[in-house]
Amino acid sequence: MRNKNYLMNNIADEIKSKCNIVDVIGRHVTLKKAGVNYKGLCPFHNEKTPSFTVSEEKQRFICFGCGASGDVLSFVQRIQNLSFPEAAEKLAEEYGIEWKSSVFDTEAKRSVYYDINRETATFFYRAFRSKKNPALAYMARRGINDDVLKKFGVGYADGEWDSLRGYLLGKGFEEKLLLELGLVSSSNGKIYDKYRNRVMFPIINARGKIIGFGGRVLDDASPKYLNSSDSRVFKKRDNLYALNVTRQEITKENRVILCEGYMDVISLYRHGVRNVTASLGTALTSEQAAVLKRYTEHVVIAYDSDRAGLAAAERGMDILRDAGCRVKVLRISGAKDPDEYVKAYGKEAFLESVNRAPSLTEYKLAAARERCDISTTEGSLAFLTLAASVLRDLSPVEADVHIRKVADETHVSEGALRREIWGENTVDYRRTAPAPALRTESAAEDSGVSMLERNLLRLMLQSGAYADRIKPYDRVFSSPAAFRIYSAVKAVCDDDGDADMRKLEDVLDRTDMALLSDIRENVRLADKEEEVFAECLVTIRLLSLTGREHEIIRMLTVANDEENKERIETLTRELIDIQREIKEVKGR
Ligand code: CTP
Ligand code: MN
Repeated sequence: MRNKNYLMNNIADEIKSKCNIVDVIGRHVTLKKAGVNYKGLCPFHNEKTPSFTVSEEKQRFICFGCGASGDVLSFVQRIQNLSFPEAAEKLAEEYGIEWKSSVFDTEAKRSVYYDINRETATFFYRAFRSKKNPALAYMARRGINDDVLKKFGVGYADGEWDSLRGYLLGKGFEEKLLLELGLVSSSNGKIYDKYRNRVMFPIINARGKIIGFGGRVLDDASPKYLNSSDSRVFKKRDNLYALNVTRQEITKENRVILCEGYMDVISLYRHGVRNVTASLGTALTSEQAAVLKRYTEHVVIAYDSDRAGLAAAERGMDILRDAGCRVKVLRISGAKDPDEYVKAYGKEAFLESVNRAPSLTEYKLAAARERCDISTTEGSLAFLTLAASVLRDLSPVEADVHIRKVADETHVSEGALRREIWGENTVDYRRTAPAPALRTESAAEDSGVSMLERNLLRLMLQSGAYADRIKPYDRVFSSPAAFRIYSAVKAVCDDDGDADMRKLEDVLDRTDMALLSDIRENVRLADKEEEVFAECLVTIRLLSLTGREHEIIRMLTVANDEENKERIETLTRELIDIQREIKEVKGR
C-alpha cells in the first residue's frame, strides 16, 4: 500500500507541475481576472455573484461562499465525481503525463505475485503427487483421503535447499519477488528455499487467488508450522483459511465453525462437516470477523481445549460479538482439538456438541460460576460482580432471562442485580449513542470519532497525567479508532509519563496516525486544559444519564403491567429523577 501511495503522490506532483489550474478550471467555469487571482461563479453551489476564486500563483481554488477549496486534482475529483486515482489518470492522460509506470503497473505487478504463488502451489502439488513421498504418507496416516487433499490443493516441499527457487527462476520470475513473497529466505548472501520437508497448505482467497502458504513439518521438528509473512498480496489479518472451498457451505448452513488450525478444517471437512474455517496462524482479528459476518452471523468457536485455546476463544468471542456476530463457544472435551475429536467420536457427535454449544453469555456466566464458590457469601458476591459485568454488554431484553436465573441461584432480588448491572456508575457508555451535537464536523468526520473522544485524546497527548484521570471513563471511547488510539496513548504514557509520537507510530497504523495528527493539530486547548477536561466530564455525565434514561424507557416498554407493577414504579421514579438531573446538567 505504501508503495502504491508513493507512486500516486509522485504522479500527483507531476500532474500539478504540468497543468495549470486556471486552464483546467477554466473549462468548467468562466473565469475573470481579478487582481492577482481569477474569479467566477462557484460550480459547487448556487450563487449569483462570484465568490469562487482561483489562485494561479498557489495553484489552488477556494469558494468564499460554500467553503469548497483544494488543488487541481480535488477540483477534477469533485466536479466529475471521480476517485483520486481516477482524477489523476484523467488529468495525466489529457496532459500527456507518463502514466504507465505508475498505478497500472502496480496492478500488473500484483498479478505477477499471484502467478508466482500459483506456480509454487503447482510445484508443491506435483511433488506431493508424483512419486511416493513422505508428505502424502503423512497425510494418509492422519486419515485424510485423496479427494479432500486435492480439494485443498495440499502439496509437498521436498528437502532440497534450492528446488523451488530453481524452478521459479527457470520460469523467469525475479528473485526479488520470491523474497518478497517469503518463498525463499536469505542469509549471509545465500538465498534458499524457505519451506523444506513440509506438507504445504496453499492459502487461497475467496476469489480463488493463491495468496500465501502454511507448511507443517512431518515430524516433531520446530517450528511446527511456517506461514507466509504478509506481502503485497497477503494480509493475514484480512483472510481466513479455506473460504474458497467452504464459503458456499457456510452460507447454505448459515453457520460457520471457526477452528484454530489448518488440520482441523481439513479433518472436519473430510468427515463431512464443511461449513468450517480457521484464522491463519494468528489470533482472530476484527477484520476476519467482518469477513465472516459477510457469509453468516452465526459463528461457533471450536478452538483447542488447552489453555491457549481457551484464552484465544475468550478474546475471539468479543471480537466476533463486536463485529455483530452471534457467537457460540464449543468446549471440546475428550480430545485436544476438533480434528482429534471428530476422528475419535465421529461427525454426529461433533455436530451434537456444536448444537449444544452455549451462547457467548451462557459461556461467560458458566466460566464466572466456575471461578467462584457460590455456596459461600463471598463467592456468591464475587460471582454477582462477574455476572453483572457480563450482562452489562447485553440489551435489557437480552439480559432479562439471564438475570432471572442468576438472581435465583444467588438468592438476590432481580432489582438488586439490575442495579448492580446498570446502576449509576456502571452505565455502559458503549451502548449510548452520543447526541448529534457531540459529533465532530471536522474532516475526520467519517472516522466516527466523537468530539468528546477527540477532546479526551487531545488532553492525553498534552500531558500523560490526563491518561490516569481519564482511565475511569475509558468506556466513552466507543468508536474503534478512538479506542485503539486511546489504548496506544495510554500504554505509552504508562511507560514514559508522556506520549511520544514516534512510539505511537510503532503501534498505530497509518489511518490511526493520521487521525491522531489531525486531533493533535486541530483540537485546540488554548491553555485551558482544565476547563476542557471539566467540560468533558459534564458531557460524560450527560451521556451516562441519557444512556440510563433510554435504558429505562426501553425496559418500561417491555415490562408487563400486571406482573411487574412494583418494578415499573421504581423505574418510573428513577426515570423522573434522571430527567430532572439531565435538565440540571444541561442548564449549567
Ligand atoms: N500455528 C503456527 N505456528 C506454530 C504452531 C501453530 O502458525 N508453530 C498455527 C497454525 O495455523 C496451526 C494453528 O496455529 O494450524 C493451530 O496450531 P496447533 O493446534 O499446534 O496445530 P494443529 O492444527 O493441531 O496441527 P496438527 O494437528 O497438525 O498438529
Ligand atoms: Mn491438531
